[in-house]
Amino acid sequence: MSTCLVIGGTEDEAQRIAAAIGQRTVALPAESIVSEAASFVRGISPDQVPEVIVLTPAIPMDVALEFTQQVTAFRPDVHVVLIATPDRGVVLEAMRAGARDVAAGLDDPVMLSGVRERLRSRPGPEDGSPAIVAPTPVDFRSRTITVVSPKGGVGKTSTSTNLAVALAQRSPMEVVVVDLDLQFGDVATVLDLKPSHTLADAFATEATDSLLLKTYLTVHPSNFFVLCGADSPAANDQVTSVQVAALIRRLQQQFRYVVIDTAAGLDDATLGALEVTDDVVLVSTMDIACLRAVRKEVELLGELELLPASRHVVLNFADKQSGLRVKDVEAMLGLPVDVLLPRTKDAPVASNRGVPLMVSQKSGPFVKSVRTLATKIFDRARAVEGRQGHRRLDVA
Ligand SMILES: Nc1ncnc2c1ncn2[C@@H]1O[C@H](COP(=O)(O)OP(=O)(O)OP(=O)(O)O)[C@@H](O)[C@H]1O
Ligand SMILES: [Mg+2]
Repeated sequence: MSTCLVIGGTEDEAQRIAAAIGQRTVALPAESIVSEAASFVRGISPDQVPEVIVLTPAIPMDVALEFTQQVTAFRPDVHVVLIATPDRGVVLEAMRAGARDVAAGLDDPVMLSGVRERLRSRPGPEDGSPAIVAPTPVDFRSRTITVVSPKGGVGKTSTSTNLAVALAQRSPMEVVVVDLDLQFGDVATVLDLKPSHTLADAFATEATDSLLLKTYLTVHPSNFFVLCGADSPAANDQVTSVQVAALIRRLQQQFRYVVIDTAAGLDDATLGALEVTDDVVLVSTMDIACLRAVRKEVELLGELELLPASRHVVLNFADKQSGLRVKDVEAMLGLPVDVLLPRTKDAPVASNRGVPLMVSQKSGPFVKSVRTLATKIFDRARAVEGRQGHRRLDVA
């Protein structure tokens, strides 16, 4: 039986990890290393060295880094994981110290799968100790949601950013938003983020290393990640649909939900995204020109075999002024309307302030509608996982 050591973790946390990885997991208090990292490491007999050491935020970062450095210098085969906000600075320092992963929480699916892999490839000494909880393979199936519309200014970015907040409220740190409006993306602006890296870095380096790709993401205070658009509209003009699909596949390995905001119409980037999309969100306003264009877009995607089975129609700027009823809209689209987003003067204020309505408002018709959309997506994800027999720990 292999051993995973959780330093600075509680018994309860160790049991949750044990349930996730199906191997013996032992919790040690943070104080075990705080004062004398060196002697802790050297004091361990070689046949008791754990295969995996997880360092929780209960250990100050400088101590965790020093400890990691000492452990990996002494035993490079030990897989050390830091639990910390994985921003670029932290990830780089952790990598330099020899850590194998930086995860936002003990439930992080990518971290757990790395730990499982490590333990599988290096079975520890056979000591006959039972696993704390019966081993159950735990995994997740990533869900990619692409928000599209043939028209500009209809609320694609408002929908995708608010949806990301709603999904992150259920699955913190398991959501990434990609600004695939390659020329004039404004996700960073409406979320008030100042990214130090953008999509251009992700495409330029073809970062196959998941740790490196993580360093290009910007963390939003509402507990999700953003792959922001480049500053220059020309930065990604050579990007192909194949590159886009490959990038999204890499993000799918790390995140439970990948939410993609797109430019108006169907450019190469959007087509590449749709190749690897589970849920398409079609945004329309209540005017005939936009509704007709959405219908044509749906027909074209059907012909191209790029229309995901799971579709959600969002009718934005919904109000009675348009002279159309939802029934008329559905007849025109040939599809049922799933979510009505009411016109509200708070929406442009939210975009200008850089604080999504899902963050600034607890209730109200707009927030309720976004939550409905998130629930539909969440339920479909659950249904698929249920069918595939997947199970994972939920964040309490
Ligand atoms: N329900 C709404 N009520 C009022 N204003 C809204 C609503 N939804 C979006 N808006 C506002 O409309 C403008 C355009 O919205 P948004 O940027 O989300 O559209 P878009 O489809 O992403 O546009 P683009 O095609 O330019 O990327 C923004 O100022 C936004 O705040
Ligand atoms: Mg937009």
